[in-house]
Parts: sequence; structure tokens; C-alpha cells
Amino acid sequence: MTKIRFLVVSDIHTCDEDPTTFKTPSYVSTQGAGPSGSVEPISALIKEVKREFGTVDFVVCAGDLTQQALPAGINYIASQLRLVATNLKAQNLIVINGNHDVDSRYKFNNFDPRGQLRQSLPDMPFISIPDEDISGSRVNHLEYFAEHLSMRTFGSVRIVAIDSAAFHGAGKPETPEYLHGRISPIMLRALEEKLQADNGQYDVNILLCHHHPLNNNLPGEIDSSEMDGGSALLEILDSGGFGDWFVIHGHKHRPRLRYAPGEVAPPVILSAASLSAQLADAQNRSPNQFHVVTFDLDLAKSLSFSMAGSVQSWSWVPGSGWYPASTDGLPSRAGFGFRGEPRSLATKLAATLKSVSPPRAFWEWAEVTALHPEVNALMPKSLEQVLSILENEHGLQPGRNSRQEVCQLGVPSNG
Ligand SMILES: [Fe+2]
Repeated sequence: MTKIRFLVVSDIHTCDEDPTTFKTPSYVSTQGAGPSGSVEPISALIKEVKREFGTVDFVVCAGDLTQQALPAGINYIASQLRLVATNLKAQNLIVINGNHDVDSRYKFNNFDPRGQLRQSLPDMPFISIPDEDISGSRVNHLEYFAEHLSMRTFGSVRIVAIDSAAFHGAGKPETPEYLHGRISPIMLRALEEKLQADNGQYDVNILLCHHHPLNNNLPGEIDSSEMDGGSALLEILDSGGFGDWFVIHGHKHRPRLRYAPGEVAPPVILSAASLSAQLADAQNRSPNQFHVVTFDLDLAKSLSFSMAGSVQSWSWVPGSGWYPASTDGLPSRAGFGFRGEPRSLATKLAATLKSVSPPRAFWEWAEVTALHPEVNALMPKSLEQVLSILENEHGLQPGRNSRQEVCQLGVPSNG
């Protein structure tokens, strides 16, 4: 297997209201498509991913399955996520909870805030597809709810699932836990011990959590909901002793792809968008998106990168469906893996393109990436930086399509 593919959804916030009514918490509802029967995000997602890829290897959900721990919402989305994974022939469905999945307000249960979650998903976080026998997942389930993290391997893929809302509803009143995530010192130690005890070699290491381990605020935004202990978590992953890591989280509804700070092996962090929380939600200023993460093992090997691949994103147009993303949120395609200097890559690219004889008037972008495949491993802002240097310092003019993706590079006659 040279490509390993993950479908990533997050922050679904399943409600029980008519999803076509303005200002319901989510476009995903226990009412399905609603009385008007208009297009529904989950079935539309299955169709779109099937059409594009046929199958995926894993389906991942980064928490906030429902809105304010609604039992019917948890039940409904549990079956819907299984349907997604089954339809896409994924070998495993990995589901963690967010803060919204814990009934810390005791609205539906007087004494067990996680009871409904465990009842609806008795095999979470690692749900085998098809799921006739859940016995293999029960040890992980018990570990996840007792120690707040669990690890499982699937051939060359290792996945750690963390409950960053484990202490939600607890703590002293002056430091309300519901305002932020947490990975406690005991959890950090348990994670380190697990990783130390595992001598396997993995092509892909995924850490899945709900809250962001690294601040994901806009300039001037006041929000301290990030995971307490997040920096210590990232330091463990950066140590280099446990391989190279790709972190997937939700919570902020703000899609973003970046490298964590670090010294040895800074993890890649994908901040997933909300799949379906309505934009009217003040928390949710970004578009609704889902993502498909592809780890390209051949590309990484050929470039001697620790990992390389892409994050493709689709945005939701209410009443119409999913479309490859354009200007908001994550772009339709973002790369990861290239950690060099944009300037040196731009200089190398320009030299290659200008050295061809006879001179070309333009290059298709696919030709450029075929000549220098590392371009496919650039994160969005790095790609823009490379394009800017190509244009301003080397006279090469990027041409863009309607989604603002670069599709050509023009070479001026005097270039
Ligand atoms: Fe959320």
C-alpha cells in the first residue's frame, strides 16, 4: 500500500430539529434531510468521497458528535458514522468524544455524564468495520474511559486516541474545566510509557484529540479553550524517539494545517473544520468542511521526507451539497511534508523552468509538480510564498482557476 487515506470529520453537533430551519445547531439532524427532504450532509459526503476515491482506509471523527449531549443525537450519529465507514469500505472507524458529548449539565442523566456515549458506542474509540464482533475493541474502550487515552495499531499505522474532555464537568469552580481541554500529567506519563513500550516501526502515526494542543486564535481573539498540557504533549511527539506524528483535532471549528513548534520532529497539526455546525453559531465563523488526508508513502520515500501527502477539503453549500473548497477555510488541496525554505525551492524551480530549450511560454502546474514533486508537499502558505517569489523575483506568472488554485506558470519572453 503506497497511499493511506483518512476521511476526517469533526464537530458535527447533531441536533433533533429541522435542519433546514435557520439557526438550528447543525445541518445534521436526527430528522435526516428534514421535512423538505433537501440534500443532507452525511449521504452527500458518502457520494462525494466515493466518487473521488472509491474507498478510504480509515474514517476519523474528532468529537462533538452532538449538541449538548443530546442522547438521540449521539445514537443517530453513531449509526450514521458506521454507515459512512461501511460505505467507504474503511477498515476502522475512529471516534472520540468532544466536550458537547459529555452530559456535564446533567440534563439527561443524574449521575453518569458519559453513559449515553458508552451505550451508543460500546466499541469506541476504535470501531471495527464491519462490526459484528466488538470484543477486539472493548479493551481499548475500557482503557479510553479509564485512562482517557488508548492506542491501537493497524499494520504500519499507529493511532492514539485521547479524551481531552475527560475532566469536563469536574474541577474546582474557580477553574471551570468546561472552558478548556486537558491532558493531565498522569495521561502524559501513560502516553510516554505506551510509546516507549512499543518497538514497532510505523509509516503513519496519528494522534486524535478534540481540543487543540496549540493555540488556534485569530489575532486579538480572546479564547483560552486550548488543551491544558498541550505543549507537553507536543514535546513528547517532537522528541523523535517515537516516530513522526500527524495530529488531528477539532473544537474550534477553524480549519488550519501547520507544523507544531519543535526541535526534532515537530508534528503536523490538522485543525479540522466543523462538518455541519451552522454558520450562525458565533463559534463557527469558518465554512463547514470535511477533509481527506492522504499519506503518500512513495512520495515521502523518494524525497527522503519523514512524511508527505495532502489534505483535500470540501465545503458545504446549504441546500446544494459538497464542493471542492475555494477561498475560505482550508483550500481544495494542501500539501504537507516539505520543511525546507520556500526561497531555495522557488530558485530551484525557476532555474529548471528557464533552462528548457526551446523556451516555453507557459507550464501546466501538473508539469511543474512532476519535475519537482516536493511542491506537492508544501503547506498552503508556503506554496503561496513560493509562488510569490517565483513571480516577484523570477518573473514567472502564476495563472489560477476559479477556485484560486494555481494551474499554470507563465514564462515571459524576456524571462
Ligand atoms: Fe464543536
